Amino acid sequence: MILVEECKLFPHTLIFIIPSFLISLLRSFPPSLIPSFPEFRHGLRYCVRERYSARMFKPDPVPGETLARILELAQHTPSWCNCQPWQLVITCGEATERFRGAIYEHARSGAKPQPDFPFPSAYLGAYRERRKVCGVQLYQALGIGKDDRAAAAEQSLENFRLFGAPHVAIVTTDEALGVYGAIDCGLYVANFLLAARNFGVDTIAQAALASYPDFIRSFF
Ligand SMILES: Cc1cc2nc3c(=O)[nH]c(=O)nc-3n(C[C@H](O)[C@H](O)[C@H](O)COP(=O)(O)O)c2cc1C
Repeated sequence: MILVEECKLFPHTLIFIIPSFLISLLRSFPPSLIPSFPEFRHGLRYCVRERYSARMFKPDPVPGETLARILELAQHTPSWCNCQPWQLVITCGEATERFRGAIYEHARSGAKPQPDFPFPSAYLGAYRERRKVCGVQLYQALGIGKDDRAAAAEQSLENFRLFGAPHVAIVTTDEALGVYGAIDCGLYVANFLLAARNFGVDTIAQAALASYPDFIRSFF
């Protein structure tokens, strides 16, 4: 898919004859030297390998043009019957701050999570192990002791501060599409994260926000 994006930049007749070494060469140029070819900055391998879940963000807003490019790329996600059933609300500036403040207070008040799709009922075997390793690594990186439940709970609440991110994208779909709409949204989210990585923007997917769908619906 990324190759198709790249090829769009060339006259149609050249699409099939760009040698791969030329693509590699262009990718190795500093982005400043190829301002009109930003899609050449990274390949799929780079985006998949280098994407990671960021849990601390700079407050600087992502330029509107970059957001538009990410959305344009992610929009090529395949979907059941080509419904493209993902709908997005993306906050900027004051809107992010209002949402951050409101959902943080809601979560901190001890509101009971009521996700539209039930959260996993159990993590068994390898899933339990991987989940544990993931938590241990996070708390170790943050210097949180394994018995310090208060600090762990505080860190968990950082989800509702959006980890300091300047934007949040809420992805929703039509209830009538059921689980298949949700699968399409999952594919979309994956591509969105990779597209963001391609344009130098860090991200994190947050199931934590799906704890309070009624609150989010009424907020927006
Ligand atoms: C659907 C989904 C929901 C997630 N929800 C959360 C979340 O609520 N909070 C969080 O800190 N990380 C969340 N993550 C991030 C995962 O913990 C992370 O992807 C995983 O540990 C692998 O690490 P990596 O993304 O850095 O490769 C979520 C990831 C996915 C795909």
